[in-house]
Amino acid sequence: MEKKNLDWANIGFGYHETDKRFVSNYKDGVWDEGALTADANIVINECAGVLQYAQTCFEGMKAYTTEDGHIVTFRPDLNAQRMEDSCKRLEMPVFPKDRFVQAVADVVAANEAYVPPYGSGATLYIRPYMFGSSSVIGVKPAEEYQFRIFTTPVGPYFKGGAKPLTIKVSDFDRAAPHGTGHIKAGLNYAMSLHAIITAHEEGYDENMYLDPGTRSKVEETGGANFLFVTKDNKVVTPKSGSILPSITRRSLMTVAKDYLGLEVEEREVLLEEVKDFAECGLCGTAAVISPVGKVVDHGKEIVFPSGMNEMGPITKKLYDTLTGIQMGRLEAPEGWIHVIK
Ligand code: PLP
Ligand code: COI
Repeated sequence: MEKKNLDWANIGFGYHETDKRFVSNYKDGVWDEGALTADANIVINECAGVLQYAQTCFEGMKAYTTEDGHIVTFRPDLNAQRMEDSCKRLEMPVFPKDRFVQAVADVVAANEAYVPPYGSGATLYIRPYMFGSSSVIGVKPAEEYQFRIFTTPVGPYFKGGAKPLTIKVSDFDRAAPHGTGHIKAGLNYAMSLHAIITAHEEGYDENMYLDPGTRSKVEETGGANFLFVTKDNKVVTPKSGSILPSITRRSLMTVAKDYLGLEVEEREVLLEEVKDFAECGLCGTAAVISPVGKVVDHGKEIVFPSGMNEMGPITKKLYDTLTGIQMGRLEAPEGWIHVIK
């Protein structure tokens, strides 16, 4: 298979249309068998549930070319499960998990020419999503839905790659107590747009959102969970009912414990204790692990000992081990790697 002639090393994190996407429609209580299509556009009624009441959720995952030339995805069953959780919370029909995993494999295989080569620094980002497609004007769930998966080749989410980020403690909330912060609803991201534009205008790379109930605990950023490392090398991640259960973060906690022999803790993390950590990073499919150098809380700067020039040593080990597993350089735990070709 001849690869597309793209500038893989400088591709950035953007949308680049690829050849095929998967589409399945839900009508009269059942999903049709679905198909791959070349048409990247969607035509829906002006009153569709997604347009009026934001009835939509999505997933994010990646396909990797391994060192020995296979194309693989990472724990797609967990994305399928999380999408099920999102759909249930938004009163949307569940796309069966086994069909989700198969459709991801089919779309990736159909866009093989766009899967970046091993060692290029790029990957194929996969975006499954679902939306209410039939008309609703009273506030209620739609009756018809569309489930789609497209792919786009991507580079690093944050410009500058591994350069430590500067994070602002935000005055905005991204989720409400008992709301939808724990699922991947489009509305959570709409909530974060003004906050991220404001942060960027002020020179920050990202926001640290606090718990919406008390605003005293660390939650997450607009698109990644936090990981901290204590001065005695314990890996700590915030526990909260209003953050997205990141698959990368859950995997990194296993990697820290089982591959690196580190102690791990998932617990509430107070904003007050952030100054005591040795390292900080953002983790997610898009972010992988992006190091944080500085957190700014209303003018008060917390600079981590790992500094503004490079990843902290534990963060680096976590990064190397996780990407080693994803790219086939290290043996993966049972069931983590799904080989497509
Ligand atoms: N938190 C938010 C708000 C996200 O959008 C994402 C991205 O999916 C994550 C965390 C990281 O989750 P995952 O590691 O499953 O990609
Ligand atoms: C991901 O990491 O897959 C995300 O969804 C984060 C962001 C690009 C929305």
